[in-house]
Amino acid sequence: MRLPETQLAVLEAASATESTAVDRLASEIDRKPEAVTRAAFDLRDDGLVTIAERTETTAELTDEAHTYLAEGLPEVRLYRAAISAGADDSPTELGQLIGAAGLGGPAVDIALANFARKGYGEIDSGEVSADPDSDPDSDPEAAALATLADGGEVDAELRNQLERRDLIVQREHTVREITLTDAAVDALMEGIETTETVDRLTPEMLTSGEWQDVNFTEYNVEADAPAVEGGRKHILRQTADRVKDVLVGMGFKEMDGPHADADFWINDCLFMPQDHPARTHWDRFALDVPPIQELPDQLVDRVESAHRDGVGEDGDGYHSPWSRDFAEAVALRGHTTSLSMRYLSGFAGADIEPPKRYFSVEKVYRNDTLDPTHLLEFFQIEGWVMADELSARDLMGTFEEFYSQFGITDLEFKPHYNPYTEPSFELFGTHPTTGEIVEIGNSGIFRPEVLEPLGVDCDVMAWGLALERLLMLMYGFEDIRDVHGTLCDLELLRETEVIS
Ligand code: PHE
Repeated sequence: MRLPETQLAVLEAASATESTAVDRLASEIDRKPEAVTRAAFDLRDDGLVTIAERTETTAELTDEAHTYLAEGLPEVRLYRAAISAGADDSPTELGQLIGAAGLGGPAVDIALANFARKGYGEIDSGEVSADPDSDPDSDPEAAALATLADGGEVDAELRNQLERRDLIVQREHTVREITLTDAAVDALMEGIETTETVDRLTPEMLTSGEWQDVNFTEYNVEADAPAVEGGRKHILRQTADRVKDVLVGMGFKEMDGPHADADFWINDCLFMPQDHPARTHWDRFALDVPPIQELPDQLVDRVESAHRDGVGEDGDGYHSPWSRDFAEAVALRGHTTSLSMRYLSGFAGADIEPPKRYFSVEKVYRNDTLDPTHLLEFFQIEGWVMADELSARDLMGTFEEFYSQFGITDLEFKPHYNPYTEPSFELFGTHPTTGEIVEIGNSGIFRPEVLEPLGVDCDVMAWGLALERLLMLMYGFEDIRDVHGTLCDLELLRETEVIS
């Protein structure tokens, strides 16, 4: 007879006259218990062993139980204090005994709950009388804890009582014991050779005919397999990719540009006054680097003029200071609308004859306070459409088309104010689990004060949407820090599927 190595080792270690537990066999032959169990089942199928199964309960002491092992059960301590105070003669005040027993916090209630139950005495209107015949040294629960701590056996009723007090945790597991059959004894006498088991059939085995002699490993479809955690793209990136696909599908082209940029592109082109609070200290990350001096001079002049005097016949500017130095200073972009300015002005080098549609899905940086919906950096889905006649309806229709591709069909719009768009709208969606209304973006139609200096003479509607908020609506995250940063939930990142 030929058998796989582990099966033969199990046969040789087991006995025909007494049963041997799997764990013992495993340590004797130096294999894992799972491997021995598997081998035993195969041997049983071949009639070489019998397997007896029984359920064994193990009890593990909780931290609370370990404390009581060292200090005594609270009710026993109360009883001992009561005896020392003479409460077996005349009732003694409970408060005094609690102090004497050194009980505090939850231990007080535990002592009171068990004192009378165990017949240590009675507590009546704050006075304790102790039963002189009780014997705290033979408290059955204390004895049971000590026995279990020593690895001994305790009957089921006491174990269940200890479990109700949260002093032990009981676990059931199956113990299998193995005995050799007569057939196994015969086979061992005749001599058993080992075979390697083979877990796959190869073309070589087929051509050589070797397949006829080898032993194939059986599949055990119930075996626990180790989880394989391969690398994968972060869901934020996966969703960004999907957003890009959707926008490309809607006829948009992608924009690209610097994360750190001149304030000119980030703010001045957008008709943001230089004394606007967002430009001084509010939410901006200024960089201590040399200014960007290569700005297109004519555009700079037109932008400055729009700021000072406005555009058009009855236009009006801010009448506030405007300096080129300020425009050349470098900061991390707080929105990717800086890219839209680079493209709309023609500075990015792309042809911008209408109609045109552009987008980007890129990082932006804001000096916000960190909270469940705000990060210091996040991804903005920027976009704009340039065409002859555009209205708020076109803007809303575009959002409805875009968000419906992600299953979001309950958009709401609120009038808003941006220095650079008129009209302006904020967008909202409903959080799938909390039902809260979540702001997901900001949008509008660029004002003439923005478009004229850029040299654009048709309409441009534009937006900045938060990718992380889209993710929250799609997957029900409540805290943006579940997907970003050191607190992120790895399990969730591993398991969430981005449907594409
Ligand atoms: N820049 C705006 C923001 O970051 C978004 C926006 C872009 C609004 C273009 C209108 C037009 O919130």
